[in-house]
Amino acid sequence: IEKKSGEQYRPAYHFTPEKNWMNDPNGLVYFEGEYHLFYQYYPDDNIWGPMHWGHAISKDMVHWKRLPIALFPDKLGYIFSGSAVIDWNNTTGFGTKEKPAMVAIYTYHDMAGEKSGKIKYQTQAIAYSLDKGRTWVKYEKNPVLENPGIKDFRDPKVFWHQESNKWIMSLAVHDQINFYSSKNLKEWVLESEFGKNIGSHGGIWECPDLFPIKDSYGNTKWVLLVSLNPNGPQGGSATQYFIGDFNGSVFTSDDTKIRWLDYGADNYAGVTFSDIPKDDGRRILIGWMSNWQYSQAVPTYSWRSAMTLPRELLLSKNNNEYYIQSKPIDEIKNILTKSELITSKIHTVKTSSYLIEINKEIQDFKINLQNSTGDIFKIETKNGILITDRTKTGDNSFSEEFGAVHKSMELEKIFNVKIFVDNSSVEIFLNNGELVMTELIFPTNPLTEIYVNEAIKDYKLTPIKPIWKTN
Ligand code: FRU
Repeated sequence: IEKKSGEQYRPAYHFTPEKNWMNDPNGLVYFEGEYHLFYQYYPDDNIWGPMHWGHAISKDMVHWKRLPIALFPDKLGYIFSGSAVIDWNNTTGFGTKEKPAMVAIYTYHDMAGEKSGKIKYQTQAIAYSLDKGRTWVKYEKNPVLENPGIKDFRDPKVFWHQESNKWIMSLAVHDQINFYSSKNLKEWVLESEFGKNIGSHGGIWECPDLFPIKDSYGNTKWVLLVSLNPNGPQGGSATQYFIGDFNGSVFTSDDTKIRWLDYGADNYAGVTFSDIPKDDGRRILIGWMSNWQYSQAVPTYSWRSAMTLPRELLLSKNNNEYYIQSKPIDEIKNILTKSELITSKIHTVKTSSYLIEINKEIQDFKINLQNSTGDIFKIETKNGILITDRTKTGDNSFSEEFGAVHKSMELEKIFNVKIFVDNSSVEIFLNNGELVMTELIFPTNPLTEIYVNEAIKDYKLTPIKPIWKTN
């Protein structure tokens, strides 16, 4: 049977591979005017397979240029998720201080080893590039961190810890996080372990990210992101986070509260950029806009999976308790067109990619995104809880779990709403990102009809320009 292409679902303004399978963002790093997005990529099929690192670059994290594959699997295994850093002090000796190397730190997954019953099939390795990520040399003494005898041992996220003059690696180890340190990215020492008796379990912990972040008063906290699969708030995969302190060796969480970065079903394995210049100072995250429950079955065939919009993470307080706010990055204005104030209950948009904004306190609102074929995606808030319903939003036949109603935690009040709609996704930000829900949808035709209830007197509607020339 000839496969449908699913091209009608290709996002207009989210990153997608031109062809075939993509999952986690990897090696997010800024260097010499370019933001790099590497990603888990299988170039030969539209389902998960032997992992490579795909590559794209951008000047604004909104418009992307696809580049050739950066890292190919080899005899040590598939190239799983990991991070990239700029080695400014030339601790590795791979570059010079004048011309620092970009270093990728990734997991080798030895598939043959796994099949033959070996336990130690995941190890950590490094590779470097001296030409802005275009070509890579794998370190000849890989792996740099051997497996101690644990099945799930992966996804190294590395940063330079100025205070103790060493590199720190956060690593997912079954359902906890280990922290390692190194002077040169080649020899690693175990510093501490985190995650026993804390956080959400019931799944594997993956893709950690530890970083400092300042609130608006200049107080610094450390945040640890941990992706969990399965057992997220909507089932399947999701990302939790901890807020606490890090002393160069041990991370301590302030409390035992479980916090989710996104209450939707489709934001997983998100990590933040390394080496964003100090005078910018933002902490920016990109997530994989899918869920392991159905990612390999969604009705797109020529390509599979998109990335979320890049989000700036901010440290804020509510009732004296810290939380992480996720705001779409300011650069998104580069693709916004002229806004219109809509005052009618039903409005038809001319494009399938648009932004809906409400900037006032509002209670119990309803917004339905629909089309003439009868598909409907429902968004509503009830007593501060955000509820989405994609049970009748077109194709959900590919998975038992996909067509569902999703509910968030409760907000005290709602004072602003931003909804980014694309051909196959909806990203909802309430209160400047105090609450986020990211959801995939596969409507038969674009959802160009917007219905709002009486709670909404008016809203701002902004068509969004496609980032690809052919679309
Ligand atoms: C997360 C993940 C990672 C792993 C990668 C493999 O989605 O399972 O833990 O490195 O995907 O593609």
